Amino acid sequence: MAKAIIENNLPNSLHKFNGTTSPQRELPIRTLESVVTVKHHTNRYLQDTNILNSHNRLIAEEITRELKTKIIGNNVIILERTTSTMDTAKKLAHTGFKNGTVIFAEEQTKGRGRSDHSWSCPKYKGLLFTLLVKHNMQPDHLCLLTGTMAVSITETIRETLQLPAEIKWPNDILIGGKKVGGVLVEFEKGLKKQSIFLIGIGINVNLTEEDFPGQARLPATSLAIENKEPINRIFLAKALLQDMDKWYSILKNDHYRYITDRWREFCVTIGEKLTITDCGKEYTGKVIDISNNGGLMMKLENGEIKIFRGEHATIKY
Ligand code: BTN
Repeated sequence: MAKAIIENNLPNSLHKFNGTTSPQRELPIRTLESVVTVKHHTNRYLQDTNILNSHNRLIAEEITRELKTKIIGNNVIILERTTSTMDTAKKLAHTGFKNGTVIFAEEQTKGRGRSDHSWSCPKYKGLLFTLLVKHNMQPDHLCLLTGTMAVSITETIRETLQLPAEIKWPNDILIGGKKVGGVLVEFEKGLKKQSIFLIGIGINVNLTEEDFPGQARLPATSLAIENKEPINRIFLAKALLQDMDKWYSILKNDHYRYITDRWREFCVTIGEKLTITDCGKEYTGKVIDISNNGGLMMKLENGEIKIFRGEHATIKY
C-alpha cells in the first residue's frame, strides 16, 4: 500500500499517511540494519511495469526493503509535497536525525539548483531527494562531495540502464549533451555545531517531451526519453542509494584518487575550451584535468594554469 509523509511542522511532527486516503496515524520512522554488499538491479527490473504500484508512487518501505547500505538510507522519508527537500533537510539538521537520512519529495514548489537556478519537475516523474550526512571534512574537499555524488549517479545510470551518462563539471549529469540530473550540496551546522552536509539530487526520470516546454540553461532530457521506456523509480532509487553509499564510504576513507579517476572517466568538460566565472571575474582557456580535490584545472589563454573550485566557479554558456 502506498505510504507517504506529509510535511506538518517538521521537524517535530512527521506524520505518515496512506497517500490515497485521508490522514493520519503517526508511525515510527523506519530504520535499517547495516549491510555491506553493494549490488545493482538489472535493467529488466528497472523497467518491469508489473512491479510498478498503481500510482507509481515512491514507497519508503519498498525503497528500504533489503537495502544494502551502511549509512545512506538509514532512514527514508517520503513527502508528497514540500517547498524543497533542501529546506526540509535544513530543519531536520537541527534535530537528532539519523545519519544517512534521505528525504524524497514527490513534488517541490520551490526546488532549487546550483547558482540560484530553480529546479522544477512534474509530480511523480522525478527522483528529488536530499541526503543528510554528518561529516567532518576539510573545506577544500567540499567539491569532492559534489563530484562523488555525480560519479555515483552517472555510474548508476550507466550500469542499470546502459545509458551513456556523463558529467559536466562539477554537478550536471548529461546524456547526449542534455541535462538529466544535478547535484546541489549545502552545508549546515547542526546540534552541538556538528558539520552536516545536505546533498540534494534531482533526476528527470519519467518526464516526456511535453514536460520540457521552456528554454532551460542547458537542453534537458529524461531517463525515460533516452531509454524509450518508463522506469521504475523505486528500483532506481534503491540502486542509487546503494551506489551512493559505496562511493560515500570511499570518500570517508579518504580514497580521493578513486573518485577523481572515475570522475575524469565520466567528465565531458576535460579538453573543452570554455569561459568560467569565478568570484565575478571571467577566465577563458582549455580544461586540462580535474585536480586531486575536485577542482577544474585550466590552461588559460595567457598560458597560466589555474584551478577553479566548484563552490565558487560556474561555467559560462
Ligand atoms: C543543479 O543541477 O543545479 C542541482 C539540482 C538539484 C535539484 C535537487 S531536487 C532535490 C533537491 N531539492 C532541491 O530544491 N534541489 C535539489
